[in-house]
Amino acid sequence: MSIGAFVMTNLAFTSPLTVERSARSRHYLMTPPRYFAVQYAINPWMHPGIEVDVDLALRQWQSLVDSYRRLGHRVDIMEPVAGLPDMVYAANGALITPTATIAARFAYPQRAEESKAYAAWLDSHGLGPVHVAQEINEGEGDFLVVGDLILAGTGFRTAPAAHAEVARLTGMQVVSLELVNPSYYHLDTALAVLDDRTIAYYPAAFSPVAQATLATIFPDAIIATEADAAVFGLNAVSDGKHVMLAAAASGLAAQLVGRGFVPMPIDLTELLKGGGSVKCCTLELRRALPSLGDQR
Ligand code: ARG
Repeated sequence: MSIGAFVMTNLAFTSPLTVERSARSRHYLMTPPRYFAVQYAINPWMHPGIEVDVDLALRQWQSLVDSYRRLGHRVDIMEPVAGLPDMVYAANGALITPTATIAARFAYPQRAEESKAYAAWLDSHGLGPVHVAQEINEGEGDFLVVGDLILAGTGFRTAPAAHAEVARLTGMQVVSLELVNPSYYHLDTALAVLDDRTIAYYPAAFSPVAQATLATIFPDAIIATEADAAVFGLNAVSDGKHVMLAAAASGLAAQLVGRGFVPMPIDLTELLKGGGSVKCCTLELRRALPSLGDQR
C-alpha cells in the first residue's frame, strides 16, 4: 500500500505528552562478543586494525544482559561462532514477529554465515519454521516493530524488495524509509522504538520523503539531536518504560525523562568500534518458546 493510502486509512499516532509509562516483559536473544574484532570496514565507524579489548567488550555486554534481567526480562544467550566477529550484533540476525520468523540475508559476504547460526538457533528452540530471507534483509537492524506496524529501512543494507517480502511473510503493514547518511546505515542507528506508538529519531538520517512519512505517522515523536545520534543514542531498547541507551546520549536521556520514560544509561563503548550499541546487540523474540517454558 502507498504511504498516502496508509496515512488515509490509519490515524496518526498521537499521544499525550506526559503519561504514566508501563513496561511489558520482553524476551531477548543475545550473543556474547567473545570473537569480537574489527577486521574489515563495512560501515564508517569501523577502522580495521584498531585495537579491541575483548574482555572489556564482554564486561560491557554482560552489564547489558544483567540490566535486562534485573528489569525482569528474559535473555537467552546464543553461542558465538569463531571467525564471525560481528556476531555480537544479534539484532541483524533475524526478525521475529508473532506470525513469522525470518532469518537475515546479509549485504556483505563477511557476515553471510551468521544467518545460518541464527536460523539454526531459532529453529532448534521452537521458533520455526524459519524463513530465510530471499532478498537482502538485515533483520532488526532495518526492521523495527511499532505496535501493528513495521518500519523498514533501506539505502545501505536491506533491499526495498525485502520490505515487500516481510509484509507478505508477516501479514503486517510495512512502511519503507530511505536512509541517506552512511553513518546511519541501519534503521536502528537513527530511530528508536519507545513503545507501541512512540518513537525517537534523527531526521537528517532520512530522505525528505521518509522524513515526511515519519512526521505524518508520528507527530509526537522525540526528535533527537545530531550529537545524541552520533554517539548511538538512538540505538536504544525500550520495554515501554525503561530505555536502555548509550550513556553518552545525555540530551536524549533528558528528553525521555520529559516524556515519562526512565532512561537507563549503559556503556557499550567498546562495541561502538564495530558500529553498534544497545539495540544492535539485542534481538527481540516476539513468540513464545514452547520448548523452554517460562523460565528466565
Ligand atoms: N559491524 C556491523 C555491521 O556493520 C555492525 C552492525 C550493527 N548492528 C545494528 N543493528 N545496527 O554490520
